[in-house]
Amino acid sequence: MMKTRKTVFFCKECGYESVKWMGQCPGCRSWNSFVEEPAAAKSGSRQSGGQPFVPVSEPVKLKDITLDREERSGSGMAELDRVLGGGIVPGSMVLVGGDPGIGKSTLLLQMCRNLASAGKSILYVSGEESLRQIRMRAERIGSFSDSLELLCETNLASVRSVIEKRKPDAAVIDSIQTMYDEDIGSAPGSVSQVRESTNVLMQLAKGIGVTIFIVGHVTKEGNVAGPRVLEHMVDTVLYFEGDRHASYRILRAVKNRFGSTNEIGVFEMENEGLKEVENPSEYLLTGRPRDASGSVVTCSMNGTRPILVEIQALVCQTNFGIPRRTTVGTDFNRVNLLMAVLERKAGLALGQVDAYVNIAGGMKMTEPAVDLAICIAIASSLRDFTVPDSALVFGEVGLSGEIRAVSQAQQRVQEAKKLGFQTVMLPEVCRSSIRDDSGISLVYVSHIRDAVRYFTK
Ligand code: TYD
Ligand code: MG
Repeated sequence: MMKTRKTVFFCKECGYESVKWMGQCPGCRSWNSFVEEPAAAKSGSRQSGGQPFVPVSEPVKLKDITLDREERSGSGMAELDRVLGGGIVPGSMVLVGGDPGIGKSTLLLQMCRNLASAGKSILYVSGEESLRQIRMRAERIGSFSDSLELLCETNLASVRSVIEKRKPDAAVIDSIQTMYDEDIGSAPGSVSQVRESTNVLMQLAKGIGVTIFIVGHVTKEGNVAGPRVLEHMVDTVLYFEGDRHASYRILRAVKNRFGSTNEIGVFEMENEGLKEVENPSEYLLTGRPRDASGSVVTCSMNGTRPILVEIQALVCQTNFGIPRRTTVGTDFNRVNLLMAVLERKAGLALGQVDAYVNIAGGMKMTEPAVDLAICIAIASSLRDFTVPDSALVFGEVGLSGEIRAVSQAQQRVQEAKKLGFQTVMLPEVCRSSIRDDSGISLVYVSHIRDAVRYFTK
């Protein structure tokens, strides 16, 4: 009897598998997301009848597991190492997602270049660009050592056999959406192809200890295209993002089995490839207006690194009945909440004004420590007073107008001092955590009313 190929339905959003089509996915509740695809061939079929074959695995005691010092290797880029949690873990699998043209291929090629010159054997598999195109990109980046090998291939089986034969220290797959397995009938980039490719690569990474970097495209919503399981399967998920119009790029970890996910790495795209930005605060504060109303500098912690940014607010009389609020780079609802606090607890008449809040430089800041700076910026624009450009403000604002504690206050003050700020306004409750206040004047506040009054007096 002829065996017909079985097909199943997958949810494009979350990878939920079903034997029949459904309008709404029971897994993620999204509508019209099911696509029909051939089922992946099961490896190692079960014997029919009798005992199924089960390989014997023995459990081990936790204390019996020996820990060899996790030797991480540097990628030659401090910013990338920081996001990875202190370097590349051998045998790990890293997914790098991002918009087209943001610089994913450039970042990974630069990393390969550094690793290759450190004597590691590297395989760069490209399914998107021809060898000549890669060569052209490499020309811009600089000189490459001989231990970097390139492969233009989209067939998963060939990629697998090359990796198995060469056993490189690290391999880059650019991109997972171009890889395909002949045994699966669907087009490259479809849910089952992406899932199968990731599976195979995962086995290679864990089996022969190759570190694998995967490039992933992102969807309109900004998630890595393909099933969510992709993100579950890999060890680390990094997103490379940035404003299309600004030259700097931010590398952010959203999942990391070997480190914190708060860290960010900052790069700048130049003609010769990506350059690391070691001091993002300085970079972000260049060109800020001197003594202008509505502009306040604050400090937000990103992992271990404090970053200084300028908060801008513009308040004007509303032309229509309903005031308009717009925020860029910060949470819209949070700004509404802060405006309500300002109105009720600091006596500012914000009911009939439009308000626009912007984080300069296209940064995104959602840490509550920026609350106070947003409030002061709005008050400054409304009352038309200026906050001296040598002053920095941070603190969380509560619904009763109280200024609440923030973490790592000392580090924030230190960073402000390093960049030449003379005054820092911070929560009263942080007083005990400040150990060194030499060379900078600290203004402690406990209520939003006092904070606004300090700058208007
Ligand atoms: P690329 O790495 O191809 O992006 P992705 O792989 O994420 O799609 O980056 C392409 C962009 O970067 C392109 O717009 C050109 C720019 N670029 C530079 O500005 N300088 C350079 O040295 C390189 C290699 C690229
Ligand atoms: Mg690319």
